[in-house]
Amino acid sequence: MVFRVWVLYLSLSLPPVRAEGGSGRPWERREAAPTSSALLGKEHNQGLQSVRALSSRYWNLLACQLWSEACEGEEDEENEVVAAAAAAAAAAMAVEERKEEAGGSRVVLEQPGWSFPIMKEILSSWYCSFGTCCATRDCKVTNNITGLDLDLSRRLHGQHLVKLVVVKAIQVFLETSEPKKALVLSFHGWSGTGKNFVARIIAEHLYRDGLKSECVKIYISLFHFPHFRYVDMYKVQLAKEISETVQLCMQSLFIFDEAEKLHTGLLDALKPYMDHYDSTDRMNYRRSIFLFLSNTGGNIINEVALDFWRAGRNREEITMEYLEPYLRSELMVAADEGPAQNHILEDNLIDLLVPFLPLEYRHVKLCARDAFLARGLPFNEEALDEVARMMVFVPKEEKLFSAQGCKTVSQRINYFLP
Ligand SMILES: *[C@@H]1O[C@H](CO)[C@@H](O)[C@H](O)[C@H]1NC(C)=O
Repeated sequence: MVFRVWVLYLSLSLPPVRAEGGSGRPWERREAAPTSSALLGKEHNQGLQSVRALSSRYWNLLACQLWSEACEGEEDEENEVVAAAAAAAAAAMAVEERKEEAGGSRVVLEQPGWSFPIMKEILSSWYCSFGTCCATRDCKVTNNITGLDLDLSRRLHGQHLVKLVVVKAIQVFLETSEPKKALVLSFHGWSGTGKNFVARIIAEHLYRDGLKSECVKIYISLFHFPHFRYVDMYKVQLAKEISETVQLCMQSLFIFDEAEKLHTGLLDALKPYMDHYDSTDRMNYRRSIFLFLSNTGGNIINEVALDFWRAGRNREEITMEYLEPYLRSELMVAADEGPAQNHILEDNLIDLLVPFLPLEYRHVKLCARDAFLARGLPFNEEALDEVARMMVFVPKEEKLFSAQGCKTVSQRINYFLP
């Protein structure tokens, strides 16, 4: 019976994900928010139940689709799993119906193409990927710092500061046997400069299952917490999910995308988990990592980069010591003006501000190269130039920085498909 309910649940819950997928561009996929608004727009209780009913896998799938390129290269696998599960679900229902009808005189349904054991295996392995199989509490923690370092050097372009500080911060944190507080990193920079990308690479090297690990939670402000009016409900939900995750995983990773749009109330709810003091429920939250991703501060970072360029200096000469005070004071100003995120900065809960520099033409070309390579498509220098030329560069006079960073580069490769 449980099996059947599960199968039904699968077949009911999956179609929306598929429907929202497709070929839309990542930033447009955020339009999917109304789905969850509609969901949460009902009665409180009903909303809460719906939220709970959505499995973490479902969220992950959604996050994949909402989050730019979060699941690049995995889509096929994803679709196969979904298709297999749907087929299995249909088959299972056919089996059930046949059983029910066996006694009567009605037409017996056609034999399904899937044998029961295969179906069970597919579903159980899929179910395991939801994570109830995390008995050891390590949840496949890999903490591959060498890999993280290598991957950032290879795949992240134009971000010497990020590479420098992120790897170090995470390494030191992981090597500390009793951290005094959770590690909180705040990523700042224009869209497309690699914030989500770095968060994903971190997840991939700290957990075998990367973003899909159940020790990794992604929250996208406007998607997960769309209505101010439900902040109290979100708070409860968020606190519950954080403590459940920490209970399950000795080392958890929480990613807050669009952090500048996170409600102050929710940030307040997060504070206890990021702070020094012992939590009331005697759980150790100090092994957790929090990443906040936001566009705030992007303009000041760009100004500094532009100043360097105008002065004829290499952007690699920009140091943290130089840039950080600018960024910090900019964020403090922003905090007074409303965006809530930076109140946690005032409380000294953020361990590190991570500035993402605006990307230049040559960086966009490198992103294009990676995109071609990732798809196994042939390319030449001209093709890379052509992709890079499609991007809009600012400011008007210098045309120096890509306004969308590398954000749409991998989609633009589609023009080159044979
Ligand atoms: C760490 O990552 C690197 C690069 O991705 C990989 O070659 C290496 O095998 C990994 N090490 C472990 C212990 O998984």
